[in-house]
Amino acid sequence: MKVLILDNAEAAVRRAADIVARLVGDRPRCVLGLATGGTMLPLYDELGRRHVSDGLSFAQVATFNLDEYIGLPPDHACSYHTYMREAFFDRIDIDPARTHLPRGDADDPQAESLAYEARIADAGGIDLQVLGIGQNGHIGFNEPTSSLGSRTRIKTLTDDTRRANRRFFDTFDQTPRHAITMGIATILQSRACLLLATGAAKAEAVAGMVEGPLSAACPASALQLHADATAVLDRDAAAAL
Ligand code: GLP
Repeated sequence: MKVLILDNAEAAVRRAADIVARLVGDRPRCVLGLATGGTMLPLYDELGRRHVSDGLSFAQVATFNLDEYIGLPPDHACSYHTYMREAFFDRIDIDPARTHLPRGDADDPQAESLAYEARIADAGGIDLQVLGIGQNGHIGFNEPTSSLGSRTRIKTLTDDTRRANRRFFDTFDQTPRHAITMGIATILQSRACLLLATGAAKAEAVAGMVEGPLSAACPASALQLHADATAVLDRDAAAAL
């Protein structure tokens, strides 16, 4: 894994944006895998800014998000569909028909998971998967003990993860218990991975990811198996390396 340590979060975000912007500039029809969470908000701000000021165009880009909460329809205020529209898609020139997230309100989430894998394959696979990391080392919603061979499927969220994401909901009880998430093998199949982590709360998970051991106890450690994985960190997130 290539590890880039930048002085602060702003510099890390700019560096991650450089990597995304270079791919989109070189290959306008690329397929991006996208992530949600607080860490990604400044990245989407920066890419949106480059769209406006540098003419960076996403008109032909296709996107696939990692995950969505089960039970939330796309127009729910706390769904990842809404997050993506508000944080990114509505601010760039992307064709909404080319943006994909699992449907959290699907009648049959298992069938939706299989269909999502098929949609990724039909698009030719993901060129660059953008990732954050949970404090427990999860990527997407692949919680600790997730199979390293997993594909898109239903996952039960740990209470730790629900507590970390509770800030987006009114109460802990309203914080969803399940999600559809790309699996670890799905993520590893991307042609390149870019993980962005900032802040001291991520230091322990980042150390597990980079320095191992390779273990389902730290799902992000699976990125050690990827031939083209880059972790972009600020000093605080890199503090335990
Ligand atoms: C959620 C998402 C992950 C994300 C994680 C970290 O659990 N499913 O994809 O990496 O949050 O979020 P944050 O950046 O808010 O710490």
